[in-house]
Amino acid sequence: MRNIMTVSDLPDLLPLFKLADDMSRVDREVERGRWFHGEGKMRRKILTTLFLEPSTRTRLSFESAMLSLDGQVLSAADPGCLSVAKGESISDTLHAVGVYSDLIVVRATARHEDWLDDEFKDLPVPVINAGDGPFNHPTQALLDLYTIWIEYGKPAYEPFPSTPLTHCVIGDIANSRAIRSYLELMSRQSGAQFYLFDTTGHNGKVREGTKIAPHAYRYITDEKQLKEVLRVTNVVYLNRVQRERWLSGLYKEEFSFTEEMAKLMPSMSIIMNPGPRQKELPTSLIGHPRVRMHQQIVNGLYVRMALIHKLLDRTPADML
Ligand code: CP
Repeated sequence: MRNIMTVSDLPDLLPLFKLADDMSRVDREVERGRWFHGEGKMRRKILTTLFLEPSTRTRLSFESAMLSLDGQVLSAADPGCLSVAKGESISDTLHAVGVYSDLIVVRATARHEDWLDDEFKDLPVPVINAGDGPFNHPTQALLDLYTIWIEYGKPAYEPFPSTPLTHCVIGDIANSRAIRSYLELMSRQSGAQFYLFDTTGHNGKVREGTKIAPHAYRYITDEKQLKEVLRVTNVVYLNRVQRERWLSGLYKEEFSFTEEMAKLMPSMSIIMNPGPRQKELPTSLIGHPRVRMHQQIVNGLYVRMALIHKLLDRTPADML
């Protein structure tokens, strides 16, 4: 059974993007589920969201995606209401929830490698990692790349634009799972370059084990360098300081992107932010023509619809 735990587990990207693009063009009123999948195909399928850490976008977009496909949703968004609060392991929880569901979407603080006990590895249904502590957020990277794919005119033969992109990644480099998955997925483009600017006051480094070649990225350490890099940047990827991974007061949270910085960027360049937003992207820049934060939220719905479809619309032969 196919689980999506890291970006390495994502299915073939281009067909997924094309399906998400088709889905984005169908009006809700036309009943997407029936239009795409034939009468009632998802109707008996159940998606369970199991969120042991807070979420707005990821959980609700998965739930909205499943409902838009005419499927059904069980939502466990409060860890205090689950038996994990009584000490049950995530592994036991997943095995129970697997009985009630066709697909499980999980967010937890523990590394995904620790979610399933060794003697108990195989679940009968696929599991999607919606965030495991500071490590992975594969569907965030998926929707980020989809946003870039659309931006560069929906290239027909590749999920990436034809010319290598230069990315400037700004935020809590060591603790942001969105940044880690972003680096892993975007560095699949041959020639892509990454400039990393840590905003926590601790010169945060790429976490050990991140699948990116060392020659593909470089650290920048002050705003003067940052401004030089912005002149050649195609995509700024801005993320907040991950306060929940720090002891209070041990991090700085002073950086804000500015209008002046946006002006330095080349034409056709964009600024993305996976959310939730803090002061790294001030409210005054939300409507800036380079900022794609709202588009990322919209795209998250369609990409997750396409992914659910890919994982659940199987014939018995596919499942052998
Ligand atoms: N980007 C993201 O994961 O947002 P949520 O925490 O709101 O799901």
